[in-house]
Amino acid sequence: MTRAGDGLLVTGTDTGVGKTVVAALLCRARPEATYVKPVQTGLAEGPADAEVVARLAGVATRQGPGFDEALAPAVAAARAGRVVRRAALLQPFGGLDVVVGEGAGGLLVELGTDGTTLADLAADLNLALVVVARPGLGTLNHTRLTCEAAWARGLRVTGIVVNRYPEHPGVVERTNLDGLAAFAPLLTVIPELPILKPPLPELPWPAR
Ligand SMILES: Nc1ncnc2c1ncn2[C@@H]1O[C@H](COP(=O)(O)OP(=O)(O)OP(=O)(O)O)[C@@H](O)[C@H]1O
Ligand SMILES: [Mg+2]
Repeated sequence: MTRAGDGLLVTGTDTGVGKTVVAALLCRARPEATYVKPVQTGLAEGPADAEVVARLAGVATRQGPGFDEALAPAVAAARAGRVVRRAALLQPFGGLDVVVGEGAGGLLVELGTDGTTLADLAADLNLALVVVARPGLGTLNHTRLTCEAAWARGLRVTGIVVNRYPEHPGVVERTNLDGLAAFAPLLTVIPELPILKPPLPELPWPAR
């Protein structure tokens, strides 16, 4: 069995919610962590998430199979004529002491052509989840769906991160924080960060 030591897996209520940004922040807090992206899609459209995290956090990174098309991983793999089994998704986690992993899309999207999801990887690796959520209307439902799917599989949700919290929150955003905190601990709220506008800066990390 592939074993990961200490660590977390970052999932989200949807694609594009900020999982990579949250993973980078977690890595900055644990510089000894290795960031792992078990499967990467959309390589034709922009940098791999591992590259973004390396830029933002200066940590070591590992990546599993990669695909050009920005599609759900199993769909991108099938269209590329490739087979992605669970073992290939677990492989980059092997032998790491501290890991910050990131799924693709949400918790139950098929990462492998064998149907493996991030929830399966979390169970196999015995890692808890961090759920990244949007601040606005709809997030209570999406976040609860994600948490309940995790709990139903016996997984732990360490907490929720609300990303892109507006500078001037309205009643929706303010009341959502209480609603979300009723599901799992609200770890932090991240504001809009202008530094993330492309191109990403070259941060001056000391050589490892
Ligand atoms: N707090 C923020 N402030 C400004 N921009 C942000 C913030 N969080 C995320 N973004 C931007 O939003 C986009 C999507 O964020 P990110 O790549 O972290 O999402 P993701 O959930 O990892 O997406 P994917 O499902 O593709 O892995 C990126 O361009 C990122 O720079
Ligand atoms: Mg990402």
